[in-house]
Formats: sequence, C-alpha cells, structure tokens
Amino acid sequence: MLTPNELRQKYLDFFVKQGHKIIPSASLLPENDPTTLFTSCGMQPLVPYLLGKEHPLGMRLTDSQKSFRSNDIEEVGDNRHTTFFEMLGNWSLGDYFKSKQLPWVFEFLTSEIKLDPKNLYVTVFRGNKNINIPRDDEAINIWKNLFKSVGIEAEVVDGAEKKGLGNGRIFSYEDNWWSRSGIPDKMPIGEPGGPDSEVFYDFGADLMIHEKSRFKAQKCHVNCDCGRFLEIGNSVFMEYVRTEKGFEKLPKANVDFGGGFERILAAINNDPDVFKTELFQPIIRKLEDLSGQKYEGFENNKRPFRIISDHIKAATMLAADGVFPSNKDQGYFSRRLLRRSVVYAKKLGIDKNFLSDLIPVVTKIYAEVYPEVKKQEGTIQKYFSEEEERFRKTLNHGLKEFEKLITDNLKKISGKQVFDLYQSYGFPIELTVELAEEKGLDVDFVEFEKEKQKHQEISREGAKQKFSGGLADQSEQTTKLHTATHLLHQALRNILGEHVKQSGSNITPERLRFDFSHPEKMTPEQITKVEAEVNSVIQKDIPITMEITTVPEAKKAGALALFEDKYQDKVKLYKVGYYSVEVCGGPHVEHTGILGKFRIKKEEGIGRGLRRIKAVLES
Ligand code: ALA
Repeated sequence: MLTPNELRQKYLDFFVKQGHKIIPSASLLPENDPTTLFTSCGMQPLVPYLLGKEHPLGMRLTDSQKSFRSNDIEEVGDNRHTTFFEMLGNWSLGDYFKSKQLPWVFEFLTSEIKLDPKNLYVTVFRGNKNINIPRDDEAINIWKNLFKSVGIEAEVVDGAEKKGLGNGRIFSYEDNWWSRSGIPDKMPIGEPGGPDSEVFYDFGADLMIHEKSRFKAQKCHVNCDCGRFLEIGNSVFMEYVRTEKGFEKLPKANVDFGGGFERILAAINNDPDVFKTELFQPIIRKLEDLSGQKYEGFENNKRPFRIISDHIKAATMLAADGVFPSNKDQGYFSRRLLRRSVVYAKKLGIDKNFLSDLIPVVTKIYAEVYPEVKKQEGTIQKYFSEEEERFRKTLNHGLKEFEKLITDNLKKISGKQVFDLYQSYGFPIELTVELAEEKGLDVDFVEFEKEKQKHQEISREGAKQKFSGGLADQSEQTTKLHTATHLLHQALRNILGEHVKQSGSNITPERLRFDFSHPEKMTPEQITKVEAEVNSVIQKDIPITMEITTVPEAKKAGALALFEDKYQDKVKLYKVGYYSVEVCGGPHVEHTGILGKFRIKKEEGIGRGLRRIKAVLES
C-alpha cells in the first residue's frame, strides 16, 4: 500500500516525466488577492498565469497545493468531507489540451497507482444553449477510447440525475463547469472558467453508507452525493473568460487539473472513509489513547473523531501559515476549529487540555513535505493551549447558563436563547441542539435564523459606522490626511511588497494612523523611501477622480479594497491619477498638491505580522 508521501511523489514524478516543472505549494493565505480569505484550490495562486501572464517555469506545471475550505466546516463528520486537504495539480498554461491530458490522468490512475478501471466513472459538460457552448463530445470520445483500451465499452448517459446510473460509464451533467464562482451565470466579469470532466471512484453498491444515506430515496448516480461514488479528480478545460458580452475565449486554452489527494488514497485503500488513510489515522490513534474510546466499529464515535482530527489538522496548518485564533478574518476560523474540537472532545470524554498533545502528531504527518509546520510546533502548541484554556472556562460557564434556562414547564428553547449562547459563550448551535434533545426540548430554528440575520445587519451597520468613524470628522485637514493615507498605502506596497494590506485606519485632524500587514519592523531606509515617494506624488499635484462602479469593474481596475460583500452592487472608486486606485467611501481632496509635506512620526508592531504607522502633514 502506498504511503501518503509516496503517492504525492509518484504523482509529481509522473508529471515531471511528461515535461512538467514542480512548483511548491503556495500559502493557505492568498497573496495579493483581497477577494478571499483562504487558498481553497490549486488554481487560486495561478490565476494571473491562467489569464495569460507568462510563468517563469514554463507552460507545464505540477504541484500539490494546500487548501482550506471554510464553507465545509459544518459538513465535516461524514466519511469524505474535510476542511483542509491537498489538491494535486497539473497545469497546461496554453500548452497541451484534452487529448493529451485525459489520457495522462487515466494512465496515472490505472497504471501508476493501479486503480481498477472498472471502478472508474467519468462526467463531462452537457452543454449550455444560453452561452452557446455545446456538449463536450471531444472529451466523450477520448474517454470512450481510453476505456476501450482496457476492454470496457463505455456507454454515455445524458440525464442520469433523473434516470439513474443505468449502464452508463460516461455521464453528462449541466453543471460540469468550473470557475471559482461556480456555474457560468455566477461568474463575475474577468473570471476564467470552462467545461470540466470529473473522475469518480466506485466503492460499490452494497456499501453500508449507501443504505444509510439521506439520498437513498433518490436514484443513485455518480454525482448524487450518497457516498458510493467519490470524485477523485477534475480536469478543467479553462478556455473561457466572462466578459460584458458573455463568454469569450481566453488568449490561450489552459488545463487545470485538481486531484483530491486524501480521496485518491482512500480509493487506493478501497475504503471510502478518508479518515482511515494514514493522513488521519495517526491523529485518530492518539485520540483513542487520550479518550479510551475506539473509532472502528463504534458508529457514534466516528463523527467526533472525524471532526476533531480534521479541525486540529486544519488549525495547525493554518497556524503554520500565520493564522492564529482571533475574532477577525482568518483568525475567526482558527478559533471556530479549535472550539469545535474542544466541544467534540468533551463528547468523547476528554475533559482536560489535549490540543497540545495532538499538534506533534499533525506536524509529523507533514514533516517531510511541509517542514515549516514542524518548525513552528512549539509556538502553535503555546497559542492553542492558551485558546483552549480560555474556551474551557467559557464553555463551562455556558453549560451553566444552559442549565439555568431549563425550567419545569419549558417545551421549546427560543431562537434568542440559542443565539445568545452562541454569541456570548461561543456555544456551537449543534451543541445546544444536542443538549436540548437530551432534555426532550425543541429548538426554534426559524427564530434563531432571524436573530442571526438581525445581528448580521447590526454588525454591517456597525462596520459602516466604523468606516466613516475611521475619520474623526470631515474637516479639511482630516480629508487631506485621508488622501495621504491612500498614498501611504500604495507607497508601502511599492516599497515593501504587495503583501502589504490595510488592516485598519483612524484619522483625526492632527494625524493619520494606518495599520497594515508586514512581517517585520521597517528599516529607517524604508521609512525614508516611503516618505519620499508620497511627497513626490504630492509635488506632482495629481488630480483625484471618483467614479461609481461595480465590484467586478473595480477589481478589473486593480483596486485595493476589502472585497467582503463580493456582489454588492455599487462602490466608489477613487483614483489618484494612475498612482493609486482604491474602493473607498471618501471624502478626498481634489488634487494632491494641497497636502503639504508628509512625515512618518512612528512605526511600530501591534501584533503578529501587523504594523502601525502614525504620520502627519506639515504645511
Ligand atoms: N480547480 C478545479 C477544482 O477545484 C480543479 O475542482
């Protein structure tokens, strides 16, 4: 049986043999991409190259990319969902296309790692009249020939989602289309995408999980998500870009292949439980030691074991890339992962601090490929233990509050009560639900959702206020300092690098305060350079323009912004000539010449990877 390291290496070696260059995994924190919090697939760090920029290592690349999908946190618990995973990639940046790539995928799966071709099923794009792109018959024919070469007559089925599997081997689906935002209709302008072809591994119709599946009422088909078939790879034929007119061909047709590393290992094991692979088993064994409970053969234990082992791994990998628990942005997800781990450990009877014991197990799994994780083991243990300590106190507090709610004639826990436990004590909803069930109580989910929405609206309002509140007033001097802040932001990015991102700003008539991401103290030379650059833009007396536009347009213009509300309709785009482009609420001065002389008064650290500058304008 292949070990995880052997499988990863075999994959990379295979594509090197086909003329590819290996690129290292990018960080889980996207660089130069304010649109998302995490790297969630292999193509994300390569977007500029897929759009046409030349890659220094050429047109054929291969990699294994660390990925984190925060949306899946609540899906974890079945046999196949994880938040952290690795995506095996092979990339054609305008080089080869389908007729070369699909045979390589087939060869790798059937000859190199010897999956039985009888267990492989594939899907292709059914076509979409609205965008005038037909069914992918080319891919169908390639797959037919590949299956034929191993003695399988592959039948094509359109509409398996209604008809079921039949005798099909190749299936067409409408949603076999991949882009970061999903199907064609959802793609913003400028986004690349294209038809895709997915490979599924069949774990067999007689699987227990299939019988238990919540989908069993439907007819099973490869894409039905009942657990019998697992998608193990996806070749995206990325040759389109969304434009104002619809879809146009990219200058060059690309291939983006993403293989599910954990799932391919599961297929090699011929067991659909990815948690049974050696990427998770060491963590599960340690948890068995700590809890005295067993994973195998105890169905009720599986969910907590899976959740804890996924979450502690994901939090550790995120920490190695600089994300530690906090209430903001990425840190919030680290916090959720750790808190959920503690809650589920309680279910296994682990009531003492345990996160620190699991971290070395995780770092060991990845020591060879990601040595940076092992190196930071001590720091990660320290931060996670502190977080765990604090959360245990809150949790115990919350449990007491929960007990207080329970009165003799209570039948139903109100949405507000659930929300308060969630908001004030970090109580996961499912915990409240389970506790309620134990007491034979109902939970008002409808009201809970309303409370949550109400809260989200309040915090959105709060964020708006904070934003205009970033400016102490709208006086002339404050407005000048606000424009100077944009110049400073751009100068920092030009001089320190594009990793610099604004993380906060506060302006009074006396001074500006600007917080930004940067790993180390600025040198005196860097400070002088930044001052000089800002002053030179001031001296050029550049006009400032404002236009109202859409987020996709602003992105296309290369604007700096925190694109949180991705599809919010209108934004203001402030441009200082060609020097700085930012989405911002204003106000700003009309031309830079009136700002006076810019001076940095102080540069200091304010936490991990964050710096703060205080600066003034002198007349
Ligand atoms: N980018 C493709 C995916 O994530 C391969 O499925």
